[in-house]
Amino acid sequence: MEYKNLLVEVENNIATVTFNRPQVLNAMNMETALEFGNAIQKCKADDNVRVVIITGSGDRAFVAGADINEFKGKSPREIMKFTEAGHSALRLMETMEKPAIAAVNGYALGGGLEIAMACDVRFASDKARFGQPEITLGLIPGWGGTQRLARLIGMGRAKELVLSGEQITAQRAYEMGLVNRVFPAEQLMDETRKFAQRLAGMPPFSTKMAKYAINYGYDMALDSANNLEIQCMSQCFSTKDLEEGVAAFLEKRKPNFVGK
Ligand code: COA
Repeated sequence: MEYKNLLVEVENNIATVTFNRPQVLNAMNMETALEFGNAIQKCKADDNVRVVIITGSGDRAFVAGADINEFKGKSPREIMKFTEAGHSALRLMETMEKPAIAAVNGYALGGGLEIAMACDVRFASDKARFGQPEITLGLIPGWGGTQRLARLIGMGRAKELVLSGEQITAQRAYEMGLVNRVFPAEQLMDETRKFAQRLAGMPPFSTKMAKYAINYGYDMALDSANNLEIQCMSQCFSTKDLEEGVAAFLEKRKPNFVGK
């Protein structure tokens, strides 16, 4: 897969999508947002891809937000296209049937943090920095930051970050529950790949049902959400992988899941 602003590699059932505009700390312009949506669509459609890792090129930035060069002279309607392109790519990634892991290797600011938040799991280098600095430019987050941040870390902390525009360290992000794990910078990609390999070895239909129940149950009333879980859990009994997982446990051996 060839893109101007992204690198996409697939190895051992794991796709790695790397934002590749290091000269602007991987800032997101419209072209990159559209390429990203396209890359996620392809990863979603490719049965050979079981897990997607999202990261940034170079050692300074994951993504330093929207490309501020593209804001000058834009009308609300033009900027709406940009925000819609971001929302659509991120929701596609969040709701696709395979996991996405953010490997946050540096600045994850503005749209960068919003991309990381739409991933299922976030790993960070100890050098990473997080924030929603939009307010310092006279705008607010536009790729889900006002919504996913409050859902992930609570309304009080979300307002602290969005209203102040302050940057926080990886350690602080970990304490807030914004990132799952923090590693020394040089270990980040190895540790992320190791975890991705584990997820890639899980039965795909169970992965799909687990994401489905969590994603769509989250905003439901508890009884409706529990009923959704009952349906999703029961559907797993239609798969060969369920038979294999149970048999392997009882026979004290490793399961061999085939995705059926
Ligand atoms: N859009 C466009 N260009 C950006 C950018 C962005 N979001 N973030 C960084 N860049 C560019 C800088 O303009 C600079 O370009 P130059 O070398 O041509 O001058 C280059 O990337 C390196 O950034 P620089 O600011 O020199 O690095 P720094 O270490 O001093 O600061 C940041 C790093 C991330 C703190 C700083 O670049 C920054 O605040 N970026 C904007 C973050 C932001 O507000 N994002 C939300 C946008 S809605």
